[in-house]
Amino acid sequence: MRKHFIYYSIFFLILFIILGLWVSNVFFIILIAISPILVLGWYDILQPWHSIKRNFPIFGRLRYLLESMGPKVYQYFIEGETNGTPINRNLRSLVYQRAKEEVDTLPFGTREMVYEEGYEWMHHSMNPLPLEEVPADQRVMIGEKNCKKPYNASILNISAMSYGSLSSNAVLALNGGASLGGFAHNTGEGGISRYHLAYKGDLIWQIGTGYFGCRTPEGDFDEEEFKKNASNETVKMIEVKLSQGAKPGHGGILPAKKNNYEIAKIRGVEPHTQVVSPPYHKAFKGKGNKGLLEFVQRLRDASGGKPVGIKLCMGNPSEFEELCDEIINTGIYPDYIAIDGGEGGTGAAPLEFSNAVGMPFKEGLATAYDILVKKDLKKDIVLGGSGKIVTSFDLFRAFALGADFCYSARAMMLAIGCIQALECNLNTCPSGVATQDTFLAQGLVVKHKIKRVKNFHHETIYSFRELLASAGVKSPLELTRDHIYRRISLSKIKSYTEIYGKVDN
Ligand SMILES: Cc1cc2nc3c(=O)[nH]c(=O)nc-3n(C[C@H](O)[C@H](O)[C@H](O)COP(=O)(O)O)c2cc1C
Repeated sequence: MRKHFIYYSIFFLILFIILGLWVSNVFFIILIAISPILVLGWYDILQPWHSIKRNFPIFGRLRYLLESMGPKVYQYFIEGETNGTPINRNLRSLVYQRAKEEVDTLPFGTREMVYEEGYEWMHHSMNPLPLEEVPADQRVMIGEKNCKKPYNASILNISAMSYGSLSSNAVLALNGGASLGGFAHNTGEGGISRYHLAYKGDLIWQIGTGYFGCRTPEGDFDEEEFKKNASNETVKMIEVKLSQGAKPGHGGILPAKKNNYEIAKIRGVEPHTQVVSPPYHKAFKGKGNKGLLEFVQRLRDASGGKPVGIKLCMGNPSEFEELCDEIINTGIYPDYIAIDGGEGGTGAAPLEFSNAVGMPFKEGLATAYDILVKKDLKKDIVLGGSGKIVTSFDLFRAFALGADFCYSARAMMLAIGCIQALECNLNTCPSGVATQDTFLAQGLVVKHKIKRVKNFHHETIYSFRELLASAGVKSPLELTRDHIYRRISLSKIKSYTEIYGKVDN
């Protein structure tokens, strides 16, 4: 192809020049018209980066075009209802329907393959309750034991996503939704922006290893800055982020394209540079679990007695056990621990970290719960969880495994119009959710999306109450591992109790 292009382009160039000179000027006009193709072809041949383009000038470009369109073509034309990832079409549609308060019922029966390995279901009761007997406002108290200002949290809240990874309009919509619906909005590790404060939705201020919002110019923790932000009335809890499921053991990544002047100012970093936070906390590096717990206490004191939690993805369970031992030794209790599953989402992460590092949600949550119970700490520490919580059955499963509250990140993104374009790391998010391109972000109309966030939360909690009622229980605290079953093979099923073990609380 390369050889042919070289021969033919030279041949036609000479031919058209001769014909232009001796026959008619029309040949010069044709030559001018096709010259962009010739120039592009020669550029392809001479450029050193892409072998396909060098060997197949012009035509090689089609491959790159088709490849870049591939995910969209797949999503629109090929993806089935239940096989799309990370969140399949059925689930995405459910979020859109609930967010828009559209019909969310399913006609003609399940599309799930109920005899396929891995299929899970809940046990209902022969004595279901009337829905009215299940409290409408499902909440959990956090920080009752150690805090001057405990927080009564909803059982479903917006998981950590920073302004930086999300657009200003997305943050506004999420915060407005949280405010309208009475649930909490986790700031993510990027600090508190004016968009987080606009609607006075309850905030959980996440402190990552970059200490954005409480950072010295050298990148260390700055207690005075922390006090200023933590004293804000809308900040209800503080969260120390140790790790997140999509990239445990890797610091946060803000791509240079998304790091605009405002974001850089909030974070105290150089604009238009890639910002990678360290994987460890400088504030207690080398001081082990004791250092972490003393940091928790320091934040609790400096915030005037607000609950302080820890977010992590489960790694080696023995390390978690050591943390629990240190809690007992020091007597310093985090007010909550939130377990993020390895399948968790992110704005940007190295592939290996997303695909192969960190325990998946169900195992991570069950492990944390079991160790907390074993160490007799569960009664004092609230357990949160996140990892593809989209439906009320996801909530039900998490509670059966031991969670007291849940976070949802990607379902909340879908509620504000995310179409799972998988471009959060490129600044080209077409729905204006995960981009700093102001033109794209303006496509997201805040006042409409606020209602959708509120609706999605409300409808999910309503549906969760229906599940509780059908199981014959009034509170998620009554759920046990006997409530959920999983198909192990065509002829074998097991309860969560058999799979994850029984623990007496
Ligand atoms: C765009 C995006 C940004 C995120 N940013 C953060 C962050 O700043 N801090 C953090 O702890 N987790 C972050 N996460 C992870 C989520 O908070 C959550 O733990 C994870 O996505 C699992 O929840 P999900 O399955 O409901 O999405 C982010 C996730 C997404 C999708």
